[in-house]
Amino acid sequence: MSNILCIGAGYVGGPTMAMIAKFCLEHKITVVDINKDRIDRWNSDDLPIYEPGLLEIVKEARGRNLFFHSDVAGAIKDADIIFVSVNTPTKTFGEGAGKAADLQFWEKTSRDILENCRKPWVIVVEKSTLPVRTAEAMSKILESGKSSTKFSVVSNPEFLAEGSAIKDLTTPDRVLIGGEQNEKGRKAVEQISELYSHWVSKDRLLLTNVWSSELSKLVANAMLAQRISSINSISALCERTEADITEVSKAVGMDSRIGTKFLEASIGFGGSCFRKDILHLSYLCEFYGLHEVADYWASVVRINEWQTDRFFHKILLEQFNNLTDKVIVLLGFAFKENTGDTRDSPAIPLCEKLLGEHANVRIHDPKALDNARIDVKNMEGNLSFYEDVYDAVKGARVITLVTHWQEYLELDFERIYEKMVKPAFIFDGRNHLDHKKLFQIGFNVFPLGRPPMRHIQ
Ligand code: UDX
Ligand code: ADP
Repeated sequence: MSNILCIGAGYVGGPTMAMIAKFCLEHKITVVDINKDRIDRWNSDDLPIYEPGLLEIVKEARGRNLFFHSDVAGAIKDADIIFVSVNTPTKTFGEGAGKAADLQFWEKTSRDILENCRKPWVIVVEKSTLPVRTAEAMSKILESGKSSTKFSVVSNPEFLAEGSAIKDLTTPDRVLIGGEQNEKGRKAVEQISELYSHWVSKDRLLLTNVWSSELSKLVANAMLAQRISSINSISALCERTEADITEVSKAVGMDSRIGTKFLEASIGFGGSCFRKDILHLSYLCEFYGLHEVADYWASVVRINEWQTDRFFHKILLEQFNNLTDKVIVLLGFAFKENTGDTRDSPAIPLCEKLLGEHANVRIHDPKALDNARIDVKNMEGNLSFYEDVYDAVKGARVITLVTHWQEYLELDFERIYEKMVKPAFIFDGRNHLDHKKLFQIGFNVFPLGRPPMRHIQ
């Protein structure tokens, strides 16, 4: 039996540890966080993150072999294996601002581990997405003190996507484990593999060195995001040429070499990883003097920002360049469906731009209203939040769909149309709704990458 600790009870740490606790009954799993409120919620039925299926797993394991608390130093003392899953946002100040990773939380954790560990051998597992060679830096910190503990740093990046975390954790495409290339490193990798082998088949466990593992995580996210920017760039061309982006995505995706996934045009990708990781990757390339490579990856982010801006400009243009006092309803604020997470959601810049035009913005989201309130708290203008879509659309002129929640498909759009000011407009930032039906009801419909359907010219 090992004492397994996870530092950081966020979107990655919480679900991953719940899964290990579910399958590795012989181990005691503790999750700590400096944020006491977050820990209190992990100990309640109102978990701090919304993830389908998570509450059931937490409830089954909590108090049995899964524990949440905020005594970070105390927990480190007993730990044999420490997963580090703290936040590594993009730096907002100094050298590399807006690109490099802000490693202050990560470094503090490394120093907390060094100061408090007591066991003779401790495996430290990097779970947070980190810049390449961070494991090496962590080893240096851990070896810098007088501790008698021997450390092995392992990179085990997490590939779960929000909204489908439980499925991704249960049946991962692969589990990547990178270790130091020495006897100690191999032993550490073996021990981490053993945990996963409780439910993941051996052929899915991919063992490699630390640097390849760190870089693979960045590249996987960069390549997924690149596909979205590619298809989004073509959505703009479709709008000029009357081609249909859905047909193009389908035709392209049926080429088995390309594949069908991540080819859905959107108002822009969001989430805590894509933008951040591409910027890290780009910064890393610049650091090594690979300016063309850095620029290539940075363009994926540029296209993404342009796509959101393009969407906003379409609304503005169709409203005769005047949004003053017009009621615009945002359907969805989360960066994707089935999550309450709004980090880097395209809804944030969209909201800012609409308020900049003095629009009256109303926000609806089934799970993300609390986070949305935090995101917009410094924005000035006429902004309100709604729990009921039918209340939100009263007197509205424009609906913009930002997040493809299933429940938006089930809305009564005839009832919605009745409540809106005419002519009524829908801008579908996900091509999620039934455009033909909406047009028949009377809406002017503006899809992405498809010809608009206008009653008025
Ligand atoms: C991503 C990676 O998928 C995951 O492997 C990694 O561990 C973390 O980053 P996540 O950000 O949670 O996961 O969600 P994901 O499903 O990848 O979606 C990211 C964004 O891309 C969302 O805003 C989503 O709406 C958007 N997207 C996705 C598109 O715009 N089009 C698509 O075809 C797919
Ligand atoms: P991710 O999406 O990578 O899981 P989150 O921001 O959701 O990132 O979670 C990271 C968590 O790490 C936060 O809850 C934060 O409070 C916690 N954290 C940051 N620094 C420390 C630290 N030094 N000790 C313990 N927890 C920390």
